[in-house]
Amino acid sequence: MLNFDFYNPTKLMFGQGRIADIAYEIPRNARVLITYGGGSIKSNGVYDEVKAALTGYEVVEFGGIEPNPLYETLMKAVELVKTHKIDFLLAVGGGSVIDGTKFIAAASLYDGDPWEIIFSRGTVVKESLPIGVVLTLPAAGSESNHRAVVSRKSMNAKISFYSNSFFPRFAVLDPVKTYSLPPTQISNGVVDAYIHVLEQYLTYPVNAKVQERFSEGILLTLIEEGPRALAEPMNYEVRSNIMLCATMALNGLICAGVPADWSTHMVGHELTALYGFDHAATIAALLPGMLKALKDDKRLQLLQYAERIWGLKEGEEDAVIEAAIEKTREFFAAMHMKTSLSELGLTADNIPEIIAHLKAHDMVRLGERKNVTPERVRQALELSL
Ligand code: NZQ
Ligand code: ZN
Repeated sequence: MLNFDFYNPTKLMFGQGRIADIAYEIPRNARVLITYGGGSIKSNGVYDEVKAALTGYEVVEFGGIEPNPLYETLMKAVELVKTHKIDFLLAVGGGSVIDGTKFIAAASLYDGDPWEIIFSRGTVVKESLPIGVVLTLPAAGSESNHRAVVSRKSMNAKISFYSNSFFPRFAVLDPVKTYSLPPTQISNGVVDAYIHVLEQYLTYPVNAKVQERFSEGILLTLIEEGPRALAEPMNYEVRSNIMLCATMALNGLICAGVPADWSTHMVGHELTALYGFDHAATIAALLPGMLKALKDDKRLQLLQYAERIWGLKEGEEDAVIEAAIEKTREFFAAMHMKTSLSELGLTADNIPEIIAHLKAHDMVRLGERKNVTPERVRQALELSL
């Protein structure tokens, strides 16, 4: 096992009816900015519950944070924070709203050009305003981690960045609030969480038995409950388990002491920046090809994955690995995801510009061994067509 620090200060407030408890977590004299997306919280009752819970607080609102949040939009919220002297941010929504709010929290206190926060990948961030979260879409894991991903339209760029000051103070996880999700977002969430686990599990062995078995528990739960969430959208137990999977997949627990890959995610961000696909759509289409291209580097973990998740162990190693990758692809397809770049409408003609964007964003040494060069990504993209 590798050396590690495990730090996660976010208080998880899980269960039905928990929005009412946020007032216990936000200082009484705080001036609160509620941030949200395109309006789903207004039609499913979440907004009303949040407003009721904040009775007596000075509250300002900023709606309209789009999926794959834009720097250009978020800067308007930074102005609002300064005008109203906001000192607490409450993000109500999915990964995009939460990530966008993390940027707002840092940019509001940053003296230089706010783009530096993103472009430096968070290294210039010294402090951020405190954030609370009411999660409505289990997927990104942003509700209890220190990451954010923000896009800048004028540059066709989508960049992830980090700061320990981004950890939300609390996150309300009420499974009932996910009942209103459209099927596409249920699928996106399940597959995003699944791939988060694989990016941390399919690397090379370091004898991290606990982390691996936590990971396997999340993968098996998602395989079991993902299709059920589509079939039985009002099943509280199913939604509860999925919600916990998504949070645990990316809150630092399973990556403590193990190597991590993230190359599928980094290439996926370029696909969203270039063509506007949903985040999960990009990585579901990329992952099978990436695993095929990188199977020699990942051989031992792929064999363990094949056996422990899919019960595959008989036969030639390569055939077992191929079968495990195919089972993974079939699971994504069962979740109604497109599982190749051609299904997304891309062709070999798109590959050069994807590679050019990776290079422009310095994504030239990816993966757990830092050996996933643009040339290897090109091979993976060809295998993903
Ligand atoms: O905007 P509204 O109207 O709220 O609608 C949203 C949005 O259209 C809708 N939605 C959310 N909750 C709903 C709902 N609709 C009905 N009922 C509900 N309860 O879902 C749509 C998608 O929302 P979004 O927040 O974009 O989805 P997701 O949570 O998948 O977040 C995706 C973003 O997270 C980033 C992605 O790159 C992408 O930008 N990620 C962030 C990570 C992190 N911070 O650690 C890691 C991830 O790998 C990922 O990169
Ligand atoms: Zn993701």
